[in-house]
Amino acid sequence: MTIAPEAFGFVCDLVRRESAIVLAPGKEYLVESRLLPLARAQGDADIDAYVARARRQPTGPIVREIVEALTTNETSWFRDSEPYQALRTTVLPDLVAARATSRRLRIWSAACSSGQEPYSIAMVLAETPALQGWHLEVLGTDLSLEMVERCREGRYNQLEMNRGLPATHLVRHFERDGAAWRVNRDLAAMTTFRQLNLVRPFPLIGPFDVVFLRNVLIYFDLPTKREVLARMRKVMAPDGVLYLGATETTMGVDDAWERVAVGRSSVYRMTQDRKDF
Ligand SMILES: C[S@@+](CC[C@H](N)C(=O)[O-])C[C@H]1O[C@@H](n2cnc3c(N)ncnc32)[C@H](O)[C@@H]1O
Repeated sequence: MTIAPEAFGFVCDLVRRESAIVLAPGKEYLVESRLLPLARAQGDADIDAYVARARRQPTGPIVREIVEALTTNETSWFRDSEPYQALRTTVLPDLVAARATSRRLRIWSAACSSGQEPYSIAMVLAETPALQGWHLEVLGTDLSLEMVERCREGRYNQLEMNRGLPATHLVRHFERDGAAWRVNRDLAAMTTFRQLNLVRPFPLIGPFDVVFLRNVLIYFDLPTKREVLARMRKVMAPDGVLYLGATETTMGVDDAWERVAVGRSSVYRMTQDRKDF
């Protein structure tokens, strides 16, 4: 079932306006495969009829449904492993020294999908003896309310557990819940989740010592990436550490960051005073 060019154009504009996600020409197959099940479930004759309904209800729940359906929520535990190794061996030891007086750390997973990223961070924190007795907060946010709800539930099926979670961590940090697994009380106590659109002004949520902004800038155009990175500087501690995805960079986007190699991966730190932009 193919989507009419006009309906495709409407969906692209809508998704870009609401989430900044760019759906380039050629992505018709993606729109079709994501919207067809929704159209069928709601009894629409085809995708065009479903999209026509969205046009007639520009403030209705169908708009959010389309945007959510076109987010890509691909994720895994300890994704790419090196960033977490860097967290363990360098980033956290530096912060332990720098925050010895406040004994408080705040970490933000800024496009957290179904929660594997914030819970992986929380596992690293829980396994760092120097942080025992500290006040530790991991905030996970995502555009998709459905993802935020999944994070809050903290429940994963066996297939999801198999994607990158070492057996030792499963035993230490999860409890059986029927055929699935649920994060244990310690991880749940460290984490909070809320819906947040990165391309709208951030609510008052800072300052953060570490921000994971991984595998989300890739969906945005250059001016949007620039805006998000500039806004990120306002909510990070001056010595804060920013993580991007393996294929993402601040270079040529926002020069107020410098790339720092840590082991086999890299992180970003601010080079200028935060007010200086
Ligand atoms: C590919 S996942 C990345 C998940 C995780 N950070 C990782 O690296 O495994 C991208 C996530 O970005 C979210 N996203 C897309 N546009 C967004 C926006 N404008 N604001 C906040 N989150 C957004 C999607 O809902 C999706 O869950």
